[in-house]
Amino acid sequence: MENTLCIIKPDAVKNGFIEDINEKIKKSGIKITKSKRLTLDREIAEKFYAEHSERPFYGELVDFMTSGDCVIQVLEGDDVVSKYRELMGATNPAEADEGTLRKSFATSLGENAVHGSDSLQSAEREIAIMHDLF
Ligand code: RTP
Ligand code: MG
Repeated sequence: MENTLCIIKPDAVKNGFIEDINEKIKKSGIKITKSKRLTLDREIAEKFYAEHSERPFYGELVDFMTSGDCVIQVLEGDDVVSKYRELMGATNPAEADEGTLRKSFATSLGENAVHGSDSLQSAEREIAIMHDLF
């Protein structure tokens, strides 16, 4: 059994998609074991996305992730890191497959509705960063 970190991003929260997204997650056989709605502090968002700190979009990404409430969630299941990445779809919703969360709920590359850890190692790091917020 694995865990992964899911974030329902501020665009999806503002657009009222929390329940729809969580329905799809549960329908795919993934269990939501922790869930908390909150606005991320800048410091945590910067640390969370530190791998992108040298990229030109980093400032915008951190601005967006702290612009309103998110829902931070821990997901559990067999092979859940890759299973949930598949359910999310491509980073750019224009390239996401039909039926994926980003195809259904995202608006743009910058505002793409959901986050999911990209490896088991990232999942452990990200869950540790968010641990005290639950
Ligand atoms: P995430 O971390 O949010 O789950 O997304 P991801 O793994 O699919 O994509 P990643 O490469 O980690 O990028 C993190 C977020 O940065 C924004 N981005 N903007 N302007 C650009 O070229 C660009 N590239 C990435 C996206 O919002 C992406 O979710
Ligand atoms: Mg990523």
